[in-house]
Amino acid sequence: SLNKMNYIRLRKNNLCVENLPAHKLAKKYKTPFYCYSLAQLKNNYHAVNNAFKTIKPIICFSIKSNSNLALLKELKKMGAGADVVSIGELLKATKVGISAKKIVFSGIGKTEEEIRMAIKKRVLLINAESESEVNLINKISKKISIKTSIGIRLNPNVTGKTHKKISTGGKNEKFGLVYKDFINLCKKISKMKNLKLEGISVHIGSQITNVKPFKEVLSAINKIINKTKINFKFIDLGGGMGISYTKKGRQLNLKQYAQLVNKFIKNKNSKIIFEPGRFIIGNTGILITKVIYIKKSNAKNFIILDAGMNNLMRPALYDAHHQILPLKKTNNFLKGNIEFVGPICESADKFSKEKRFQKIKEGDFVGLTNVGAYGMSLSSNYNTRPTIAEIIVKGSKHKIIRKRQSLQNLVNN
Ligand code: LLP
Repeated sequence: SLNKMNYIRLRKNNLCVENLPAHKLAKKYKTPFYCYSLAQLKNNYHAVNNAFKTIKPIICFSIKSNSNLALLKELKKMGAGADVVSIGELLKATKVGISAKKIVFSGIGKTEEEIRMAIKKRVLLINAESESEVNLINKISKKISIKTSIGIRLNPNVTGKTHKKISTGGKNEKFGLVYKDFINLCKKISKMKNLKLEGISVHIGSQITNVKPFKEVLSAINKIINKTKINFKFIDLGGGMGISYTKKGRQLNLKQYAQLVNKFIKNKNSKIIFEPGRFIIGNTGILITKVIYIKKSNAKNFIILDAGMNNLMRPALYDAHHQILPLKKTNNFLKGNIEFVGPICESADKFSKEKRFQKIKEGDFVGLTNVGAYGMSLSSNYNTRPTIAEIIVKGSKHKIIRKRQSLQNLVNN
């Protein structure tokens, strides 16, 4: 469907990022590194924008999925707002010029410092998740004589049918307020002088590829609106739009989702907000890494890469599969038990098991695909390894958009 256009693909047996064979980059930049396609980013943003063009939503890119400043700047140019969850993300959003009027602040544990900053910057909405937080926002707003726009996050008791570690909408999760508490809090807020209740927000989880849970969310919101009779200025539907991680995998059908939202919004004069991360940035990135050693052990071939779980955490954390592609395709195959692993001292540091893979040798390069979302942003210095570089490709041009952390910086911190 809509974002299927693929700018990272095989061309004449070379894995290419736009017009550039990835092996050229691998020879130029020290591996491992992340590499993004700008055309893919634009394509994805416009796919979301187009799918919902009849309702013109505010698209708040979820910065936690990827906070690279150069990429954020590009998204800002396309018209994106931001979904932020920390003071750091808030400052990055404003640093690239995203207007506060397009920023929503989410999260269950906002600190006083974060709330004060969000109030002062007059962000579009602070999406509150507890009564205590609402009280604190009111108190700080009063001190500085501001009437702050807030939303309340509903816990709709809908599970997104996704990995349990990225499902947030069930009633036993820590997120949002359940129906009764939501209704009660609305009443209390109506008496608070320094708050304007302008929004209702939801986010039921990430990597959701079926529209059914979204449909359930919309009816949960309708239930709240019917009960409270509040004419919310903003209805923030969160992120969660799933992408395909394999050739035959499925992504969320945006067209179907849009149909549901169009129907839902009819006869309401609310503005829809979305907070997509993965759908916009996920398939824009690959992680290019070198085969350091190949080791045969029992009946296994371990392919030891120079990228590890500190660079890409998703396989270790969620058993996520990121397809591994050789940068140069041949037709000679290795068969048997092949395991791609990283260099980290943990047995969870493995990327994939294959029964058949192209014959590769030490010194060859491979790319882990669809790592644009929650790749770099989840990475760490574990094993005292530097954070790695990020490169952007635009047509046949390429440049560094974040430098590899220097050893000096690494060692002195
Ligand atoms: N809005 C809120 C309130 C969120 O908590 C999230 C993600 C998003 C929006 C963006 O969701 P997306 O459109 O990217 O699905 N590290 C995990 C994903 C964690 C998602 C956390 N919240 C992973 O690598 O799969």
